[in-house]
Amino acid sequence: MDWGMKNRLSQLIQSDGKALFLPIDHGYFQGPTRKLEEPGKTVDPLLPYADAIMLTRGILRSCVDPTKTKPIILRVSGGTSMARKEELSHEGITTSVREAIRLNASAVSLSIFVGSEHEHESLLNLSNLVNECEEYGIPVMAVTAVGAELEKREARYLALCCRIAAELGARVVKTYYCKEGFEKVVRGCPVPVVMAGGPKVDSELETFEFVHDGIQKGAIGVNLGRNVWQSDYPVAMIRAIRAIIHENATPKEAHDLFDSIKKGKQ
Ligand code: 5RP
Repeated sequence: MDWGMKNRLSQLIQSDGKALFLPIDHGYFQGPTRKLEEPGKTVDPLLPYADAIMLTRGILRSCVDPTKTKPIILRVSGGTSMARKEELSHEGITTSVREAIRLNASAVSLSIFVGSEHEHESLLNLSNLVNECEEYGIPVMAVTAVGAELEKREARYLALCCRIAAELGARVVKTYYCKEGFEKVVRGCPVPVVMAGGPKVDSELETFEFVHDGIQKGAIGVNLGRNVWQSDYPVAMIRAIRAIIHENATPKEAHDLFDSIKKGKQ
């Protein structure tokens, strides 16, 4: 692996082999998502606890201070919106590699939509992006998106998506956690896997349990958005998740930490 590629990957994946990515890219198709109406305000208190942030060039330029930030995972796919849910899989590449370099991105990310009407197009988008990014030593993180069909989050489907993403050259793959068979999803994917959260779940403990279980089953960490910043206590949430990822905390220990930060004791 070239020095530049190794260096960028090491900015994202820490020396313990683990990673906590904080995505705030949701607006690229959802508009001003709840609690992300002002992305700068949402992300500012969370930055110290994230290993990298994932976002689009527009939000990076307008909402993030370039003098005090974290490694950037630049979302470079899009072109769809919630207003046409049936077309969510019809993404193209929205941002050039030249722009990613100008913005000093440590990685770029793009969604693939396996099993959708636009599967072929999204997989070629990934391949083309990898072709170009490898020239410059920029890792591509593939996002195994499910579009509007959240019920697709089961092991067989996720394993298919992750393996295809790795085969086409993604250096990191983001996928969803599933309770049954997640270890098979990770085992079948020869590059590091991080988990997204999806819509906010009912309790904090539920999030801690799935993050912990996913790590035990081989994921290197998370790319977790709504379950962090839609919480009433986002800083407590990210610190508790960080303890699971980087300090081997159990879900209960993470929950105790969450409670004590929430009560202002830490
Ligand atoms: C949106 C994304 C998000 O970055 C990803 O889904 C993670 O966020 P969340 O934990 O809120 O699902 O790629 O397409």
